[in-house]
Amino acid sequence: MAARRRVTARSPLLRVGLLLLLSLWCLSAPSRGIPLDKCHGDKSCQPARPPVVLIPGDLGNQLEAKLDKPSVVHYICYKKTDSFFTLWLNVELLIPLAIDCWVDNMRLIYNRTTHSSSSPPGVEIRVPGFGRTYSVEYLDPSKRSVGMYFFNIVQAMVDWGYTRDDDVRGAPYDWRKAPNENKEYFLALQKMIEEMAHKAWKDRYIKDFISLGAPWGGVAKTLRVIISGDNNRIPVISSLKVRSQQRSAVSTTWLLPYANSWPKDKVFVQTPTTNYTVLDFKRLYTDIDFEDGWQMRQDTEPLVADFTPPGVAVHCLYGSGVATAEAYKYSEDFPDVEPTVVLGDGDGTVNLWSAVQCRRWVGRQKQPVTLLELPANEHVDMLVNYTTVAYIKKVLLSP
Ligand SMILES: *[C@@H]1O[C@H](CO)[C@@H](O)[C@H](O)[C@H]1NC(C)=O
Ligand SMILES: *[C@@H]1O[C@H](CO)[C@@H](O)[C@H](O)[C@H]1NC(C)=O
Ligand SMILES: *[C@@H]1O[C@H](CO)[C@@H](O)[C@H](O)[C@H]1NC(C)=O
Repeated sequence: MAARRRVTARSPLLRVGLLLLLSLWCLSAPSRGIPLDKCHGDKSCQPARPPVVLIPGDLGNQLEAKLDKPSVVHYICYKKTDSFFTLWLNVELLIPLAIDCWVDNMRLIYNRTTHSSSSPPGVEIRVPGFGRTYSVEYLDPSKRSVGMYFFNIVQAMVDWGYTRDDDVRGAPYDWRKAPNENKEYFLALQKMIEEMAHKAWKDRYIKDFISLGAPWGGVAKTLRVIISGDNNRIPVISSLKVRSQQRSAVSTTWLLPYANSWPKDKVFVQTPTTNYTVLDFKRLYTDIDFEDGWQMRQDTEPLVADFTPPGVAVHCLYGSGVATAEAYKYSEDFPDVEPTVVLGDGDGTVNLWSAVQCRRWVGRQKQPVTLLELPANEHVDMLVNYTTVAYIKKVLLSP
């Protein structure tokens, strides 16, 4: 009873939620001088649905605690827990006696020297669900109606076409503290708003993304380029002569196979003494005496390593059925010698394994991801193939 009264007594506060609308696009369109009535139904001219961040009010999101306390206020209180548990809202903790433990975990200690507050010794508090909606939809993870908060609004928005955790997100925080002690939160909030506005930019300006033979997981062929040079079968050019120029192009190193796509045990380069997989590039760069290359790889790998879906409609076209270099075997003269080429499937340049990686975006973004294999199409020849041109026409001329 005490618990219930306490919760309901505070419930008016729970309703003090802020709905922050990112109206950036609505605001910016007129100033760009594009009158909407001149668009003749052009999709890109319609105002995009603005992304929404839900900022809860005081007491308005879940908090979790983990304990390893030197002492407790009552023998029934937990002193130590193995993992985080819900501290707010958990009505079971608000019953008589238990509430004494709860108060002792929930309270802050103010330090008048530093003007800052902290949890009691051995109490660690964290805010779950930043960037998602669950922590502000229900204060109580068991979804009891007493803790229902933004659920109704979020559900309505989903009916209007919004997607939870995508264009509607929550920004929960440690509401025990005032803004002066929540600086990290505001930085995270700023970053999230920028990311969401960026996505809205794509919704408004990018209708489709058509890729032709894109090497999503890198290309095995680039290994030969950096190891021994590649004259592209032009016999008058010495591979070793062009190697220094080819190594200096950072884009070659950027296109090396990626650990996020290829099997970790696949041997790409074999020498009499060493097998190099996608996890051995540091060593490879050392062994070919090209240490700068490893720096270049570290500079560029993070650009694509997490394989984030593009967030626009994707049409992934790729050739197959053409012999494509997939690994190289070197003699003891490695790296200053031409290798034996191990062939696999692909378009002659891009390995099929790499080309189909776009499939991993299917279902990971709300926009469609369509794959079209073009059998018997070489990397550049696919550009003049009727099938490719017809597909592009279909995408461009569809409403
Ligand atoms: C307050 O913070 C100062 C500086 O970190 C520290 O020296 C002091 O012990 C703290 N006071 C209390 C009561 O914890
Ligand atoms: C490299 O791998 C091949 C098989 O892929 C194996 O036969 C060979 O012994 C390995 N060489 C070394 C040095 O581990
Ligand atoms: C064009 O692509 C299709 C589909 O991959 C293929 O069957 C056909 O042989 C190609 N045509 C030419 C002329 O390369």
